[in-house]
Amino acid sequence: MTTQLLEASPLWPATLDHIRYDSPDPSRLADFYASAIGMTKTPLGASEFLLEGLSRSIVIGAGAAGQPFSAFALVDGDHLRRYRAFLEGRGVALLPSPTALFGNDAFAVRDPDGRLAVFGTRARPRPQAAGDGAAARLPGELQHVVVASAGFPAMLEFYAETLGFMLSDTVHQDAPGAHEGEVNVCFLRASEIHHCFAVFRAPQSRADHHAYETTGWNDLKLWADHFGTLEIPIWWGPGRHGAGNNLFFMIKDPDGNNIEISAELETMKKGQPGRKWMGARRATNLWGEPWIRDTPATS
Ligand SMILES: [Fe+2]
Repeated sequence: MTTQLLEASPLWPATLDHIRYDSPDPSRLADFYASAIGMTKTPLGASEFLLEGLSRSIVIGAGAAGQPFSAFALVDGDHLRRYRAFLEGRGVALLPSPTALFGNDAFAVRDPDGRLAVFGTRARPRPQAAGDGAAARLPGELQHVVVASAGFPAMLEFYAETLGFMLSDTVHQDAPGAHEGEVNVCFLRASEIHHCFAVFRAPQSRADHHAYETTGWNDLKLWADHFGTLEIPIWWGPGRHGAGNNLFFMIKDPDGNNIEISAELETMKKGQPGRKWMGARRATNLWGEPWIRDTPATS
């Protein structure tokens, strides 16, 4: 790992701004996010919706279920120009931005799994007031997105070496004796927040989950009560991840996408080395059952 390069990466600081889900029934999925996650639903085009709250944005479009892009916001136009030049200097093919939320200078790159990573700055400001729904005022910043990958080594190399995300914690396969197993999970950051993106090794490349970061433990109770009112069950947690040390629980949307409500995600300085976790059990849940991504998806 070229640590010196990563410490100098012009990507820093960047944050996850929004993601897109495609759905066979985009209107139903959009209605779910409006009521469950407290977002306003705005048509962007034919069968395309913007779901947005004070600190959370998702684009939902028509298509086979999937998560075709993740969009990361840089500080300003000068930052974006420097990062673009960095990628051009490394021979990375730059593609048109697929999102209407970023300005004209935004661009995308295609990762080894075929998903786009989009880089830009906000052209369309976030709402200035919370909507009317029951969840609209619940704190929850769209903070990280995670993918599962059948091409894990190439994905790790692309995001950490080529794009310049900084490696936080890694999870290694259990291995006998003192041997260190292969890396199975990587958590990557572009600011002091432990991760805004992560990749899990899995039999199939697919969306894994996205997360809303709240202000503390009490928010998890408020969100769980809200989901309880809507009869949306928690399927994993509450627990505390080892990697990132955050409190969490997860629900599913109608397409089977996993949604995480999180609190206390740790911070790491630029250049600070991450931890190595041996085996996924405690890395994924210090309190109880882990979620091991070693079986094909059922949803
Ligand atoms: Fe997460």
